Amino acid sequence: MIVKIVENYLELSRLAASMVTKEINNCKSLVLGLATGSTPEGMYAELVKQFKAGNLDFKNVITFNLDEYVSLKPEHPQSYYYYMKRHLFDHVNISQENINIPTGCSNDLYKECYEYEMKISKAGGIGLQILGIGANGHIGFNEPAEALSVNTHLVKLADKTIEANSRFFKSPDQVPREAVTMGMGTIMHAEKIVLLASGTGKSEAIKQTLSGRLTTAVPASLLQLHRNVTVIVDREAAALII
Ligand code: GLP
Repeated sequence: MIVKIVENYLELSRLAASMVTKEINNCKSLVLGLATGSTPEGMYAELVKQFKAGNLDFKNVITFNLDEYVSLKPEHPQSYYYYMKRHLFDHVNISQENINIPTGCSNDLYKECYEYEMKISKAGGIGLQILGIGANGHIGFNEPAEALSVNTHLVKLADKTIEANSRFFKSPDQVPREAVTMGMGTIMHAEKIVLLASGTGKSEAIKQTLSGRLTTAVPASLLQLHRNVTVIVDREAAALII
């Protein structure tokens, strides 16, 4: 794992965006795995800036998002579909048919999970996967558990995650209790992974992620088995590793 410690959130966002830009510009076509949450917002803003400056072209980019809440329709302001439109897709030249986000509203979520996994496979797997991290060490919505799932699956959100994500909703009861998420295998099969973490709230999770120990109690710790992971952390998130 390569760990890059940067001064602050702005630097983190710029570095992450420059890595994505480089990958898009160096590949004929790229399958890009995307994350949501507060952490990558700055990276998306920077990518939009690069696109508007003419430095970036999304024509040959296919995206797959990590996860989506169960029961939120795409037009719900807290759905990850809505998030992606607001932060990236509405501002760049990506074509609608190249955008993939799991739907949390299907009548058959198991079928939805299977089909999502197949679609990623048919696209040739993820080339570059962007990840955030939960304060409890989750990636995507792979929550700490005795056993983790390999493929895209339906998951119950941890109480800590519901509490953390309630800041985006009017009240904690409005936070969906379930989500569809890429599995640990889906993520680990990505050719390259960039994990972003900002703020003191993530420092313990980052320490555990880089600890040299693997545990399903910290799903991100499994990334230590991957050959091409770059962890970009700001000073606050790096507080317990320096
Ligand atoms: C969410 C998402 C994750 C994200 C994480 C951290 O619940 N499912 O993909 O990485 O939590 O979010 P934030 O960046 O807002 O701290």
